[in-house]
Amino acid sequence: MKPIDLRSDTVTKPTPEMRQMMAAAQVGDDVFGEDPSINALQDKVAALLGMEAALFVSSGTMGNQLAIRCHTEPGDEVICEENSHSFNYEGGGPAALSGVQMRPLPGVRGVISAQQIRAAVRPADDHFPRTSLVIVENTHNRASGAIFPFDELKGISGFTRENSLKLHMDGARLWNAHIATGIALRDYGALVDSVSLCLSKGLGAPVGSVLAGSRAFITRAHRFRKMWGGGMRQAGILAAAGIHAIDHHLARLAEDHRRARRLAETFAKFAGVVVDMEATQTNIMIADVEKAGLKTQELVVKMKESGVLCIAFSPTRLRLVTHLEISDADIDHTINVVHKVLTAAGLHLID
Ligand SMILES: Cc1ncc(COP(=O)(O)O)c(C=O)c1O
Repeated sequence: MKPIDLRSDTVTKPTPEMRQMMAAAQVGDDVFGEDPSINALQDKVAALLGMEAALFVSSGTMGNQLAIRCHTEPGDEVICEENSHSFNYEGGGPAALSGVQMRPLPGVRGVISAQQIRAAVRPADDHFPRTSLVIVENTHNRASGAIFPFDELKGISGFTRENSLKLHMDGARLWNAHIATGIALRDYGALVDSVSLCLSKGLGAPVGSVLAGSRAFITRAHRFRKMWGGGMRQAGILAAAGIHAIDHHLARLAEDHRRARRLAETFAKFAGVVVDMEATQTNIMIADVEKAGLKTQELVVKMKESGVLCIAFSPTRLRLVTHLEISDADIDHTINVVHKVLTAAGLHLID
């Protein structure tokens, strides 16, 4: 039997309908701006966000790193949250590609506040790095897919605008925040200077992200994308998958959220397992088994033996992510496996 793969929402394969769209896509040389499918995707995402322009890029990492490069100069400082993707999982890109230093602030469920940012901004003095950019992550991967509260975002946006700082949103999963909250993508777009959204996660496209912002920002990003080897020529076959994904797989993210919640509730029923139910708002759930005295790596092996794949996010934190290829029946099966594995590990249900 095919394993139930809950390691990440990046594991999905293109559906037959998506493959048809890819096969039929019109293409051209995108470095010359002549790929009709890429142009259509970029226009579509820019319009959804209410932003001037957008750029198709190979990955969420490239979108974030381009944003950092375009909003800063070497020697600048970038304020971010300490568990953010751009700080932890992008290979030291900010230092290597943009010559900037990151200033990670401690967050609550991935959220940093306008007050924290205000306190971290460097005074204008040649001894200090120049603070030029703030990055927020929405939804937040390491914080169980928590949504960045809109009012907090508004406060940060007001602060960055008043103080001539730029605000970038790592919106790899902004689609999920939009579906979970009902807040329009353009309302998010109105608050930030740039946003990067992934097509290859919950939406189920095989490759790609879209970076959006002002026309001047995107013109600059286009240049660095080329410099970094990201000019992909007839990549319209990929963009066509992205368009199909937005048209057909966006609303269904609500199902992923409902299923992740069922999994989270299952883990939370066991004594010693800590699940932040308030943070579990979208398609990611994290169970901390430290208090139960368990090691995630052992649980990952046991779950795999029963046909369920998940990730040891840390020695005591287990991550499961729902997506396009996970059905209600898969969740039923996973719930049975969780019961079996945790009971065998000596845990019991809370009365
Ligand atoms: C929040 C967040 N940002 C950015 C990325 C990077 O995306 P990619 O894997 O396409 O580089 C990820 C990937 O998991 C992510 O979770």
